[in-house]
Amino acid sequence: MNKQHLGLAPVMPREGLLFGADYNPEQWPRESWPDDVALMQEAGINLVTVGVFSWAQLEPAEGQWNFAWLDEVLNLLHAGGIKVSLATPTASPPPWLGKKYPQTLPVDADGHTLWYGSRNQFNPSSAKYREAAATITEKIAERYAHHPAVSMWHVGNELGQISYDDESACAFRRWLMDRHTSLDEVNRAWGTTFWSQQYSTWEEILPPRKAPYIGNPGQELDFKRFTSDQLVSLYRAERDIIRRHDSRHPVTTNMMGFFHGMDYFDLAAETDFVANDWYTDPGDRASWQLGALTHDLCRGLGDGRPWLLMESATSAVNWRPHNVAKEPGALRIDALSAVARGADGVCFFQFRQSAFGAERFHSAVVPLAGAKTRVFREAAALGAEMAQLGHLAGSSVPSRIAILFDWSSWWAAESAARPSAALKVMEQMLAYYRPLLRHGLNVEVVHPGSALERFDLVLLPNLFLLAQEHATVLKDYVAGGGHLLVGPFSAVADENAKLATGRFPEILADVLGVTGEEWLPLAEPVPVILTSPAAHLDANDTQARVWSEDLEVHGSNTRTLAYFGWGRLAGKPAATANPWGAGEAWYVGADLPSPALESLVMAAVGAAGIDVPVPQGLPEDVEAVERGGTLFLLNHGSATCSVELPGRYGTTTITLPPFGVKVLSQKTNRVYS
Ligand code: GAL
Repeated sequence: MNKQHLGLAPVMPREGLLFGADYNPEQWPRESWPDDVALMQEAGINLVTVGVFSWAQLEPAEGQWNFAWLDEVLNLLHAGGIKVSLATPTASPPPWLGKKYPQTLPVDADGHTLWYGSRNQFNPSSAKYREAAATITEKIAERYAHHPAVSMWHVGNELGQISYDDESACAFRRWLMDRHTSLDEVNRAWGTTFWSQQYSTWEEILPPRKAPYIGNPGQELDFKRFTSDQLVSLYRAERDIIRRHDSRHPVTTNMMGFFHGMDYFDLAAETDFVANDWYTDPGDRASWQLGALTHDLCRGLGDGRPWLLMESATSAVNWRPHNVAKEPGALRIDALSAVARGADGVCFFQFRQSAFGAERFHSAVVPLAGAKTRVFREAAALGAEMAQLGHLAGSSVPSRIAILFDWSSWWAAESAARPSAALKVMEQMLAYYRPLLRHGLNVEVVHPGSALERFDLVLLPNLFLLAQEHATVLKDYVAGGGHLLVGPFSAVADENAKLATGRFPEILADVLGVTGEEWLPLAEPVPVILTSPAAHLDANDTQARVWSEDLEVHGSNTRTLAYFGWGRLAGKPAATANPWGAGEAWYVGADLPSPALESLVMAAVGAAGIDVPVPQGLPEDVEAVERGGTLFLLNHGSATCSVELPGRYGTTTITLPPFGVKVLSQKTNRVYS
């Protein structure tokens, strides 16, 4: 049980939903600030993040402080009734820090220093950087802890830096001593008898810098964990300083969903609530689906509690190769998708579009063209709607299905020189998630170490690395009546990325009733024939494309649900189900295309006794999510769609215009919009 459950930590403000933006007043003349506050009020904004990139304005030279402008900004915002998420500006140190203390700058794997002139140029292991970051955090916390505008704290920005320099190497060694206790254990964990990599002193150990050929997978995995831990400790250091000055308001930082560089389960455990940045790609029709999965991760990161969409775009971003603008209506859809999936607030990057700097082509609430614009009008209409939906704040998104995800496993699964680079963790995650999304089923993305009792079905789409203790939890879960669906190339490596000997997945062999002896990546598609559930699918809908496994059933009650239809594995099992204790465990030893996989996933949903909200499936671009007795139907596409609903919303067919939304209350049968 963590601190939030004990009710000890401050929580997100709960007088309705939060609606806001990053506000960077230092880019604009002070005379315009009162107008900004007036426009915020007009847009229904009740929260702004301030100060996130203001280090150089606050400390223009070492030890010289200038807080007058920030005092004025906070006072103005307070007078206007706007709450502040006050940031520590530590993601973008000023040039003087890098010039005077070059050790604060990060060094890449090739040995090149990353210079100032952009942002994020700090080395997470640099003692000098940490000291400077602590100093400015202390100054800000001390000065503003009791300012009435401050309602939460925002540490840094999108932590994710990495450095391979000598100071990081020393810190890495200390981290390894802690984790493995002795040099012998490091050698054992990394398997250094391979290619004569054995270390005889600690000083020989380095971060995985650029080397002539493939690196050591154990070393690479540990360096990822170390870097993640360094970033968590940076967060913790600033949070603890803030906490000493302010024990009332919550502290958090903005994450980036399925960001590869950091283990967010570790970071989330240190925050008072989860905050995330999500930027739908309007140029990719399916982008909202990854958004939905990301929002479901945000709930999982916070043990099911509400979270905050800390950043999103009103229209185009500036950092994709294409930067397609959002269609009219898409701003609202994207925001409500987050609310439906548990967000207690939606914020944009940023309030006013920058006229200069690297992000001058990025959309904002107030475009350069001003407030008499489509984007501002849409943002303001959403602000009004968020106020109407205020009763949802704090409500949960009940989910009976979990997808297990683990950053260490992701890192290890996608290391160099694996059987097939075409089998990708995130693609498998989405492949298993889409059938659930299409049927309006709520899902939570959780860590393999989570308590699973509250779920009726647990999916492991491609969990390469599984610790023995977590395998035991899964077996107990199935024995106790749970349903488990395991995807290909799962549970084959231990915490050090060392492969298990024996038939795979050895660690789950008994519960699955099936094991394999060879992973067989495919050069060309191979048909898979589904036996049960009897699915009448087109041959193209059932072809494994990149992955197959040579499997054999050994459980006496194991059923073969699909077998390979051609090639060297013809007639051998491709998918199985095995009763185990009071539950059942399913295994899929191929990458199956959506229709075939959907049929298996939905059969597992049925076996788990889960009620399916939209049994006939939703149109491709439509999302249906239930939160707090309210159903959100969101059409992410540009065509009109109809959705057949079961009777509990008192209506059977709902028509959604392009980018249209219907919000229905189960209790009152009221249609909000
Ligand atoms: C985020 C970042 C913001 C801004 C935004 C632009 O990743 O936190 O500061 O750069 O992207 O989309």
